Amino acid sequence: MSHLRITGGRPLRGEIAVQGAKNSVLPILSATILSADACRIRCCPRLDDVDAAAEILAYLGCAVRWEGGDLVVDSSRMTGCHIPRYLMEKMRSSVIFLGPLLARFGEASLSYPGGCQLGPRPIDLHLQALREMGAEIREDGGRLLCRARRLRGAEISLPIPSVGATENILLAGCGAAGTTILSGAAREPEIEDLQSFLVRCGAQVSGAGGHTVAVVGKQPLHGCQHRCIGDRIAAATYLCAAAATGGQIALLGVEQRHLGAVCRVLQRCGCTMRHEEGFLALRGPERLRGANIIATAPFPGFPTDAQAILMATLCRADGATMMVENLFDSRFRHVPELRRMGAHIRCQGRTAVVYGVDALHGAAMRATDLRGGAALVVAALQAEEPSAIYEIHHIQRGYEDIARDIRALGGHIDFAADG
Ligand code: UD1
Repeated sequence: MSHLRITGGRPLRGEIAVQGAKNSVLPILSATILSADACRIRCCPRLDDVDAAAEILAYLGCAVRWEGGDLVVDSSRMTGCHIPRYLMEKMRSSVIFLGPLLARFGEASLSYPGGCQLGPRPIDLHLQALREMGAEIREDGGRLLCRARRLRGAEISLPIPSVGATENILLAGCGAAGTTILSGAAREPEIEDLQSFLVRCGAQVSGAGGHTVAVVGKQPLHGCQHRCIGDRIAAATYLCAAAATGGQIALLGVEQRHLGAVCRVLQRCGCTMRHEEGFLALRGPERLRGANIIATAPFPGFPTDAQAILMATLCRADGATMMVENLFDSRFRHVPELRRMGAHIRCQGRTAVVYGVDALHGAAMRATDLRGGAALVVAALQAEEPSAIYEIHHIQRGYEDIARDIRALGGHIDFAADG
């Protein structure tokens, strides 16, 4: 096991390319099950969660191989429709295999998914929608046994714009008889990316990015080549790290429109931003201003995945910021770790108030979840003394190599063996 060692206190400067989006590539890897031929994911991000998805595909009988930076999946000889618990528990996105398995085999057996501990993360909306499409789902000893001789298109309305449920419905709809109309869909850019992939494979999907998505069932789909959108949360991490250190950076391969809410907050705090297609630049002020109130919301609102990262960014701001977490019950687990560095943060329920302090000092900390872990990196970059971050397997689930990227921007960060 290793940990991260970081010595901060210097502004980040430079230009880097942003990795492909984790939250795009995972549902797209599930979608490869619907294709009769090989699919090539170009410049696929190398993440622990991608390895977990590849392991599930291989377990199901797909041929999965890396060719340079591309991941190639051939599901034509796939046989299985059962995913064992140890693979399901590796990540939350394992549940997105349910829709495509039912669409292809009319059968699936899996357990509840794992993923970051952010409070209760039910999958009732996924199951309810699939039932509306004709699936019979029963639970037996913690396993979900699902069957549908042939899924049928349905009119489905989601009461909450769940990203994962939207993806499962879209994928199930591709293999259903007739048309599925989903209203109340999540509008995240990753849903649009999933639609682009499916359309390249010959599927009839439209409306992604809006509130209503339509899918005309058609099987099997054919193979395609696809390159995922840039990872907007990895991009937000590096923008925040530059903002917090008074730096100046440019990111390649990311769209400003995917990061509108984050950019607006950073500008409010005193950053100057510039963008062109696929290019986003930020210059941070000497000291950030507090952001007043930030409330997380589904896209295009402020992303819950950037909440911890922004909180770390504002620990030394001039003034206070109130952060309201509207999506998950338990998404402030990074706060006690930030306090080790001298951050002044008060939490009550789903609200946290960050009072800017003059300086953060180095500390030993423990990543508690993926984005909470990235937040600790952003905090450590602000302290002149060395810090150590343990339990970095959380961070490696979603960042290809956070140390490589920060080093490319002039930060002092490296991996060291535990013990
Ligand atoms: C996805 C993202 C995750 C992000 C989250 C919210 C991926 C792989 N993960 O997670 O990074 O933090 O969106 O933007 O894309 N809910 C239910 N019942 C359900 C499903 C969800 O009540 O069946 C609730 C959740 O508890 C949560 C809200 O809906 O309060 C949104 O969750 P959802 O959009 O489904 O998140 P994920 O798809 O798990």
